[in-house]
Order: sequence, then structure tokens, then C-alpha cells
Amino acid sequence: MSPEEARQRIERLREQLSRHNHDYYVKAAPGISDFEYDQLLKQLQDLESRFPQFDDENSPTRRVGSDLKEEFRSFPHPFPMMSLGNTYNREELEEFDNRVRKLAGYDVRYFCELKYDGVAVGLSYRDGKLHRALTRGDGTRGDDVTRNIRTIRSIPLQLRGGDVPDRFEIRGEVILPREGFDRMNREREQKGEPVFANPRNAAAGTLKLQNSAQVAARPLDCLFYDIPAAQNLFAHHHLGLEKAREWGFKVPESGQLAHHIGEVLAYIDRWKEARDRLPFDIDGVVIKVDSVALQQELGFTSKTPRWAISFKFKAEQAESTLQSVDFQVGRTGAVTPVANLEPVLLAGTTVKRASLHNEDQIRLLDLRIGDRVYVEKGGEIIPKIVGVNLAMRPAGSRPLEFIRQCPECGTPLEKRDDEAAHYCPNDTRCPPQIKGRLEHFVHRKAMDLNVGEATIDLLFREGLVKKPSDLYGLTYEDLIRLERFADKSTRNVLDSIAATRNVGFPRVLFALGIRYVGETVARKLAEAFGTMDALMAADREQLEAVDEIGERIAASVLDFFGNPENLQEVRALRDAGLTLAMEKKEEPLSKALEGKTFVISGVFSRYSRDEIKELIEKHGGKNSTSISAKTSYVVAGENMGPAKYAKAESLGIPILDEAAFISLLP
Ligand code: IVH
Repeated sequence: MSPEEARQRIERLREQLSRHNHDYYVKAAPGISDFEYDQLLKQLQDLESRFPQFDDENSPTRRVGSDLKEEFRSFPHPFPMMSLGNTYNREELEEFDNRVRKLAGYDVRYFCELKYDGVAVGLSYRDGKLHRALTRGDGTRGDDVTRNIRTIRSIPLQLRGGDVPDRFEIRGEVILPREGFDRMNREREQKGEPVFANPRNAAAGTLKLQNSAQVAARPLDCLFYDIPAAQNLFAHHHLGLEKAREWGFKVPESGQLAHHIGEVLAYIDRWKEARDRLPFDIDGVVIKVDSVALQQELGFTSKTPRWAISFKFKAEQAESTLQSVDFQVGRTGAVTPVANLEPVLLAGTTVKRASLHNEDQIRLLDLRIGDRVYVEKGGEIIPKIVGVNLAMRPAGSRPLEFIRQCPECGTPLEKRDDEAAHYCPNDTRCPPQIKGRLEHFVHRKAMDLNVGEATIDLLFREGLVKKPSDLYGLTYEDLIRLERFADKSTRNVLDSIAATRNVGFPRVLFALGIRYVGETVARKLAEAFGTMDALMAADREQLEAVDEIGERIAASVLDFFGNPENLQEVRALRDAGLTLAMEKKEEPLSKALEGKTFVISGVFSRYSRDEIKELIEKHGGKNSTSISAKTSYVVAGENMGPAKYAKAESLGIPILDEAAFISLLP
């Protein structure tokens, strides 16, 4: 085959495969069998490997993702990605309608859509091809998840039709349909991996995976709902959506025009009832002004459009019988009572367990085994019991007793003064707590080790690792004999352990898991004391002298280092070669902003907020979050809040825009 013939054949195959993809994943009406599809795909793969000069990142063969790990870079959104104002009741919705009509001066048509419960993404297309996909991020910049987005079969990589603009931006919600979610969780459970709490969390977690081949294996989907009006491509929102559908995007058919608020309310009622029958989760309905001109006239507040609002559904309830209560010990030693219920259908899924939070909650509800209870699902991890049907209480039932001893290690439980939870105080010997500490230690934000919960579990069960320092004694022989460890994975784990010797002191301190010492506090302490030794030698007064460290944190730090086992562990980590002192401070780029305190607010065009903060610090200045007499300058972007503005003005603090700020720099 000549290269020219190959090129033509490749193009034709790509076209065919894209069409079949669209039929299958968007229209749910496959035109050919899976077998035929696979044959075509194979032909294409073959040709592409023989003629690499025709490689194209938008080829259907690329949907399988890649094993390459890549950090996410962030990019600015072409238009800010806003959120929506919420309401839970009709009166507020009517107020919204009144506001809109008053401003418009005439009756307004709305477009009603379902509020898909997933993760927002903004996709840019250039010359009909997918260019970049960003998560919402902070609304002005998002993470580049293009590689992962490409694996979602229903997302068009190449648009169809002759009237596609050269450049445009479209937004949608990445979701995990319920069926795929259930299947995925079943598989995870079998493999001993932690299950996802709900489809939204699963979709969010999946989108942020670094390995796009793993993403490709999960049944994500994407539903589109917005072509930002600022592009002036359409006169009416619903026409934009129709066009998007023609171009190949999946736009659900459930959207509907409403000629007045009465029709909006009817739409809400209909979907409140029908939502359980949908293949995916929704958490409400979104109501949008259909006219793009009117949308532009109404504009935005600092956070949300004035031309749209969401109506959120209240949590749904079901009634079931309380069969028994389990007590689970978490990573922090907190004991959580969990109710076992007679299985009951709630919002489309079968519920068997519900959280009871703590002893107070059990008392408050006066729960008893055999009670008929009301269960509610409010988008949280597990459903909760919100009440008891007292009319159905069985005779002779007795109030539930909370346990007094840890079900994992037998240690008597304790209660802390201001907390409702019971704790097992045996933090160095109680198995779930040991595992919790290890998991915290290896976490991405702590030592960032390349091992997951399942591996920690395995290492613990095998008796290889009981405390973080044990990780540093692991050998190739220790690991290779374990289930699921091959040569490559063993080396990966060992390399990643070795690499943690370069992790800076603040993160090592955070990784120790001292109660109340989160990422920020760890950084403050590390900066203030400089070395682990100095921190361990600090007394209460010295600790409390550090910015933002109060009595509670100081007491917790003293408590931690007062425990000989912890001291020994720190020693072992030092022997393992971890970094227990601050590195030399970076020299500032200049002293241009020395002695000046800045408050930044709003959205900027050239730099992100973080970049501006960094610039301030690099040039010797300080950042602060609130405006006071000590503030030297306020740097104001778009949409800075009116309250902040007024405060700065009243204190006579100069307000700089982005350009004026940049002009301060050398
Ligand atoms: S419109 C400027 N329509 O809900 C307004 N959003 O709480 C753009 N969402 O960020 C949003 N379904 O992630 C819109 N039919 C729908 C939606 C929807 C789900 C999400 C989206 C948005 C969030 C706002």
C-alpha cells in the first residue's frame, strides 16, 4: 500500500469509527456489532503503526489512554467557570422569576435542564478538533485533563457538520452512570480496594487519575449543558444545545422550554418523581433564561450568573427496620456506630447500612433494635437515620447501649471534652489506627509514596510494616514474594520509598500525623523552628508564639513528643535519612515590595491568584487575606466584592489593578 493510499484508508476508518462511536455512546443505537467494530479498530491500529507519519492524537485508537504518568498543568479558562445560585423552595424561585422579568420588562422564556451530579469540565475546540479540557479549578484556571477526557467515548474528538466555529468553548458534566458505578464498586470490593461513596466522587476521582489507561477502563460519560453566551454564537441557549447535539455532543433530551414560571414548576415536579428512573444521578434542576441577549443584560454577580438558578431536590426518605448496630473504628481512633437495616430502595439504590454518627445521636433518636426508622440520602457518603416511627415500636424494646471498649483492640474508649465521638486511645497498637497513620504518611500531600490503601493493608497484614519507619527497611525479597507484586511493581515501590528522602521537612512533619497538625500548621511550625530537634525541644510558650498556633495545637504537639514511642519513631526516620530540617530559604528576586502587605481579591487575566501571591513573596512582600489598617495595597481583579472595595476605600488603602501591580515590580 502506498503512503497516499494508507492515508486515505486511515482517514476513512477514523471517520467510520467516529460515527459508530457516536451511534453507540451518544445515540445508544449501535449500527454494527462489537465484533465488526473491533475489526475496524484493529485495521486502523495496524495502519497507524505501519504509517506513523499519519499519527493524530484525536484518532479513535487513542481512546484507550496511556500508562504514562503526567502531572496536571493548569490553564486559564477562556471564560470564567461560575457556579450557580441554589434554591430549595418555590418562593425563592418565584422571586428569581420576578427579578428577571422586572429587569427584562417583559415575559421571559426559560430553558429547564436537569442538574447532572458529576464534575464540571470546560472543553475547547479548535478547527473542529478537541483542543483542551479543563476542570473547574478555581473558576479562572483549571487543571488540564485532556488526556483523560479523550478516553470518554461519547465525547467527540472531531466534530461533525460544516458549520463548526474555528474556536469555541463548551461545558458539560462528567458523570458515572449508576450501572457503571455499581459494577466498578463491586470489582473494587472484590479486589479489597476501597469503594467510592457515590457516583460523583467516583467520577471526580477518576478524572484526576494520572494514568489515562485506568480512566479509559472506567465507564465515564459526559453530558453537555452550556456554550458560554459571551461567544455570541447563538441567539438562544436552547438553539446552542441543539447545535451541539448536531456536532456530536451528548446533550440529554430532557431539557425543555418553559413559557412562564408555572411551566418551570411543573418541570420540577415531574423530574422530582422521575429522577430515580434515570440512568444517572441528578441533584436538582437548572433554570436558565433562554435569550442570550437577556442573559448578557442580566450578567453575573461575583460568583454566579443572574440569568440562571438551580432548584435542588431535598433528600429523599424511605422507611426500614433497624436490625443491628456495628461499631467501626476509624483511622483516627474515632468510633462510629453504623446501623444495619432491612434492605430498602432509596433514590434508585438499595440501602442496607446507615451512619448513626455518635452516641448523642443514638440517644437523641432514642433508637432501639427492631424500630421502624426513616432513612435519608442527602448526597452524603452513606445515608443517615433521621427519625423513628414510634407508632411501630415493638413492645419490650430497650434503648441501645453504646460500647465501652474498642471492638478492635479491647482498650476502654475515651471521650474528649468538646467532641461527641468516642475514641480508642490506643493509637500505637490498635490496627485500624496503625493503618490510618501509615496511609496518612504515604499520602500524596505527605510523603507521596507510590502505594495505595490496598498495599498498605497487605504490608500490615503480612507483618512487614507497623510504623512508617518500617517502610525504609523493606527489601526486594520482602516484597517480591507478596501477592500482586512483580519485578516492576516491587522496584517501583522501593524507588518511591527511596525518593521520599528528598521530601522537605514541612511535609515530613505533616506526614507524622500529629493531631491538628495539618499541612498549613506543619509548614508554619517547620518554618518557625527550622529543625525537628528545635521543635521537639520547644515548650508551650514557644509553640504558642508561632503565628496561628493556639493552645489546642500546642498541647497536641507536646503530647505527641511526650510519648517515648513517637520519639523513637522520629529517631528511626532520621536514621532512614529523611529530611528533618528546613532547606536554606530561597533568595528573594528583589526587595521591591519589602515591608508591604498585600490583599488580593477577584479574578485576574494575566496571572492566576496564586501566581500573584508568589510574585509578592518573591519580591519581599507579604500576603494577607483580610483588609486592615496594616494593609499597604489591595490588588483588585475582576469581580472584587463590593464589601472589600468599600473597606479598602474607607481605610484609604490604595487599590491597584493587575497592570498597576505589575508596574511595582522591577
Ligand atoms: S449551567 C454559568 N446546567 O452545576 C452557569 N450547570 O452548581 C453554568 N451542572 O458548575 C452552569 N447540570 O457543574 C448548568 N444543566 C446544567 C447543569 C449544571 C449540572 C453543574 C455544573 C455547574 C454546577 C453549578
